[in-house]
Amino acid sequence: MTINDTFNRPLRDLRISVMDQCNLRCTYCMPKEVFGADYAFLPPEKLLTFDEVARLVQIFSSLGVKKIRMTGGEPLLRKNLPQLVRRIFNIEGIEDIAMTTNGILLGTYAKQLKEAGLNRINVSLDSLEPLIYGKMNGRNFPVARVLDSIDQAASTGLHIKINMVVQRGVNDGDIVPLAKYCFEKGYTLRFIEFMDVGNTNGWNMEKVVPSKEILDLLQEVMPLEPVDPDYIGEVAKRYRYIGTNKEVGFISSITESFCSTCNRARISADGKLFTCLFATQGTDLVSLIRSRKLKDEVLTQFISNVWNNRDDRYSDQRAKLSKEPSKKKIEMSYIGG
Ligand SMILES: C[S@@+](CC[C@H](N)C(=O)[O-])C[C@H]1O[C@@H](n2cnc3c(N)ncnc32)[C@H](O)[C@@H]1O
Ligand code: SF4
Repeated sequence: MTINDTFNRPLRDLRISVMDQCNLRCTYCMPKEVFGADYAFLPPEKLLTFDEVARLVQIFSSLGVKKIRMTGGEPLLRKNLPQLVRRIFNIEGIEDIAMTTNGILLGTYAKQLKEAGLNRINVSLDSLEPLIYGKMNGRNFPVARVLDSIDQAASTGLHIKINMVVQRGVNDGDIVPLAKYCFEKGYTLRFIEFMDVGNTNGWNMEKVVPSKEILDLLQEVMPLEPVDPDYIGEVAKRYRYIGTNKEVGFISSITESFCSTCNRARISADGKLFTCLFATQGTDLVSLIRSRKLKDEVLTQFISNVWNNRDDRYSDQRAKLSKEPSKKKIEMSYIGG
């Protein structure tokens, strides 16, 4: 089954935040000045249970979702995560399960996750320089330990991508070194433009390094050619290092909006459905499940209606919308990347 929104965009991908807490405090995501010791994270009983996640995935699958990505916060902080992966793997219609992680706990869990049915991992890694990485992650966490974890995950056969959020004057000097490192290791690097998600990360346009600028810089050292998208709605623009089968990707939400083909829904750790990364509010699915105890057919129809009415295209309208001060956006750590 396929359901479309008001711009005829089908529902295909579902991102599920399985944990709102994180063991890092990346400056662009959960700045430690805001997410301090007294920050009120969700109490455990508010988190979707594995039964609830599995039920929702089944319903979303019946509406056309084929790909699931687990995210957070830090998804590997969620206890027994491989059990959830296994349950999702067994749901009919789900063809691909991926996860985005900061990699800190990856060495411990990679093998179990792979065996449970996880295909792909994106690891966030913004610099190879210990000082820069330590500063950006807000906790001085050593980069060498994450690099080890990534290698351990790769040795299990998981396909690895590295996500680098580039900020001008912070880690733009790491673009070429990280590209070379990933090339040698066989990891696909994806450059992500620093985004204006949430309200706390001090975003401004001067800190954004446009993908075009990164591409030009990289081309001088490592010649690239464009690669056709694999499917409609592919977010990263991909390039191949000429003469190889190795690639890099660019996620350019700021300078090249991809709203027109966006087919993603997101569920927060406490079960709210968001139809845009830059949303100001979500639809509470948990109360429908827990208090109103809706049957599957009714819940399916409800979710289908939410998607049918979807008209989000924040990135297309960024310049206009960001001037509206009343718009309080959802934090990236709450909704997942
Ligand atoms: C919110 S994190 C959650 C998963 C996991 N903790 C991690 O760091 O990979 C998901 C992705 O969002 C990215 N991200 C967070 N804040 C961002 C921002 N302001 N602009 C661009 N990407 C951002 C992170 O770098 C990461 O790749
Ligand atoms: S980007 Fe990921 S690792 Fe960094 S603070 Fe956000 S949720 Fe945590």
